[in-house]
Amino acid sequence: MHDTSFMGYFVPKDAQVFVNAYVIGRDPDVWPEELTLFKRERFVGSKTDYKGRNYELIPFGVGRRMCAGVPLAHRMLHLTLGMLLHNLIGHLMQMLLEKLWIGRTS
Ligand code: HEM
Repeated sequence: MHDTSFMGYFVPKDAQVFVNAYVIGRDPDVWPEELTLFKRERFVGSKTDYKGRNYELIPFGVGRRMCAGVPLAHRMLHLTLGMLLHNLIGHLMQMLLEKLWIGRTS
């Protein structure tokens, strides 16, 4: 490694550089809408994804050292969400039946 400069910044030899993915993912120039909102429709029709090709969204990092567990994490996310919804719907159904006095056991 040697001294270098990047986008006008001098980076000395052997410097440890931390990339602030949190701030990158909240750049108001890239994400002009309300950033604190869970707003999945912001991705409708968008080609931006998390697979390391779009530097504005890097929850799994980018490049050769990006997260090795992306495929597993992706599957786990769907599985977990499915389990949560499944339990929630079962719970809601039970509450509904109890309200209608159908599910009473005593
Ligand atoms: C939502 C879940 C996850 C997120 C957000 C996540 C995020 C990340 C991030 C940001 C990095 C650093 C990438 C970089 O240095 O540029 C990383 C590295 C890594 N992740 Fe994940 N990860 C997740 C789940 C997993 C799972 C489930 C596994 C394995 C079963 C895993 C295995 C790894 C490994 C082995 C590395 C190191 C890769 C390397 O340095 O070459 N991750 N992850």
